[in-house]
Amino acid sequence: MPEADASSKEKQYHADVPQQTPGFFLKGAGSYDWGMKNRLARVFNPETGRAVMLAVDHGYFQGPTTGLERIDLNIVPLVPYCDALFCTRGVLRTMVPPSSQKPMVLRASGGPSILKELSNEEIAMDMEDAVRLNAAGVGIQVFIGGEFETRSVHNMTRLVDAGYRVGMPVMGVTAVGKDMVRDAKYFRLACRICAELGAQYVKTYYVAEEFETVTASCPVPIVMAGGKKLPELEALTMAYNAVQQGAAGVDMGRNIFQTDAPIAMIQAVNAVVHKNLKPAKALEMYNTLKAQMKKECK
Ligand code: 5RP
Repeated sequence: MPEADASSKEKQYHADVPQQTPGFFLKGAGSYDWGMKNRLARVFNPETGRAVMLAVDHGYFQGPTTGLERIDLNIVPLVPYCDALFCTRGVLRTMVPPSSQKPMVLRASGGPSILKELSNEEIAMDMEDAVRLNAAGVGIQVFIGGEFETRSVHNMTRLVDAGYRVGMPVMGVTAVGKDMVRDAKYFRLACRICAELGAQYVKTYYVAEEFETVTASCPVPIVMAGGKKLPELEALTMAYNAVQQGAAGVDMGRNIFQTDAPIAMIQAVNAVVHKNLKPAKALEMYNTLKAQMKKECK
């Protein structure tokens, strides 16, 4: 027998107030299950709908990349300033303190090194391990137009199926082969394929022309990839333009950790993404923070 409700308080059913069935703040995510939405809301700030992800997964195919030689020394101090870290499970287990409250998005594909054909990837992590690591998402490369296009797409769809079993969002990463043209037409195709086949969000590169058509034709959020190191003003301008043209944030690596002052840069990127700070102001912020840090070090 259940225990009797002994409270003397009158029950309040609020029969005149219909229960709300709210949508969800993130593009295309209204019909997902609670766990999937909750993981997405750990990465994307529900107040701005945007995310600053710090990408440090490069070692999975190119070894100790400049700036990532010592993740414990160079990257761990940046973690408090990002919304989520995109890294491999090897880095997570060996160098990221488990006391960190930041969401972790784990690189789930791999295989070939830079010495081989990069599109020849496989799924490189069990979904069970992502759950064990309390990941907020997993990311996988998709090589549209690449030699192993079908395999990479199938890797992603299998990961999406595994993700749905446990409520784990999958980020499709549009990898561009050396011979491919990086234009809006290509990225519209690649991003849309990722979304149609189930990715909950897509990481893709910015293009100067018609980027808004890439974001508009992709039914899930897009985070902008950083790409090779640019002068700080160019990187901040690119991030600014991307979010103004519909991106839901960034997943940047080298343009943060290869600057002279990564902690200053990530804060400037954050202000661009979450506060719509204009690039020139963001550069000012970067320089001021950089100077302050230099002073403190003396
Ligand atoms: C390649 C990747 C990377 O490994 C990484 O995340 C790229 O970051 P960035 O270009 O900003 O240094 O996803 O597609």
